[in-house]
Formats: sequence, structure tokens, C-alpha cells
Amino acid sequence: MLERTLSIIKPDAVSKKLIGSIVSRFETAGLKVVGIKMQTLSKEEAGQFYSVHREQPFFENLISFMSSGPTVAITLEGEDAVAKNRALMGATDPQKADQGTIRADFAESIDANAVHGSDSPENAAIEIPFFFRSLDLCF
Ligand code: CMP
Repeated sequence: MLERTLSIIKPDAVSKKLIGSIVSRFETAGLKVVGIKMQTLSKEEAGQFYSVHREQPFFENLISFMSSGPTVAITLEGEDAVAKNRALMGATDPQKADQGTIRADFAESIDANAVHGSDSPENAAIEIPFFFRSLDLCF
């Protein structure tokens, strides 16, 4: 099914100059970039984006890290885009990520794990408008 999903290239990967390498993996896998935007999130904005994790013990670390430097938000489109992006990313903890995945190749820790990706089409439909107005997305 043709879907859209949100990817965020996190501050660790941006500072390591991995934007091009990561976008290339999406494109090589057949996912199309239909929106792309760079921004440094405030702690408040990071907290709003990750509000489902508000009660988690890692929440404070997560929002400090996500607001520590520039991030790149990307809307990806393609067949089964949500699952395809998750397969490309690998497990949340890079130590557990399969070889050849973005997190296995580029991430250092569960906090600095290079990328975020929507975990379901329902969450993609919430996460994409956090960064993009519909007019910002191309067809
Ligand atoms: P992400 O996919 O962006 O979603 C929430 C983030 O919280 C996750 O990636 C990790 O970077 C971070 N995190 C830190 N500790 C944990 C944990 N124990 N379980 C899940 N996510 C964690």
C-alpha cells in the first residue's frame, strides 16, 4: 500500500555529516523524499513531539539530546513506507540492530541512535504534520 512515514535524522548523525548517506539509503530502497526540513528543536518542541514517552525514565535524556543540535525531518513516500523505513533503520538499540541497517552502521547508543521513524501509519499521520504543512509536501 502507498504510504507516507516520518523520518528524523537525529543530532548525532547530522553532526557526523551522515545526512547524504542516510537519505541515499532511503532512495536506494525505493522510498521517495516528498518533504525535507532542517531545524534545531527547542526542548519544548522535542517534548511535544515525544509526548507519548513523557512518563518514561529516558524522557529527559531524550528531549535534551533531540534539542542538542540540528535535526532533519523527512517525509518519505512509497509502498509500505512505514515498515520499509523501520527495516532500514534496524532496532532502537544499535547493539541489537541487524547488520547493514542505519543504526547498526551509524549509531552509538540507544539515545544517540541516528534516526527516528514512525512506528505505524496512524502515528505517521500524527508525526508528519508536526513538521510539515500539506502544502510543504510534494507529489
Ligand atoms: P526513537 O525511535 O526516536 O523513539 C524514542 C527514543 O527514545 C528512541 O528512539 C531512543 O532513542 C530513546 N530511548 C532511550 N532509551 C530508550 C528505551 N529504553 N526504550 C526505547 N527508547 C529509548
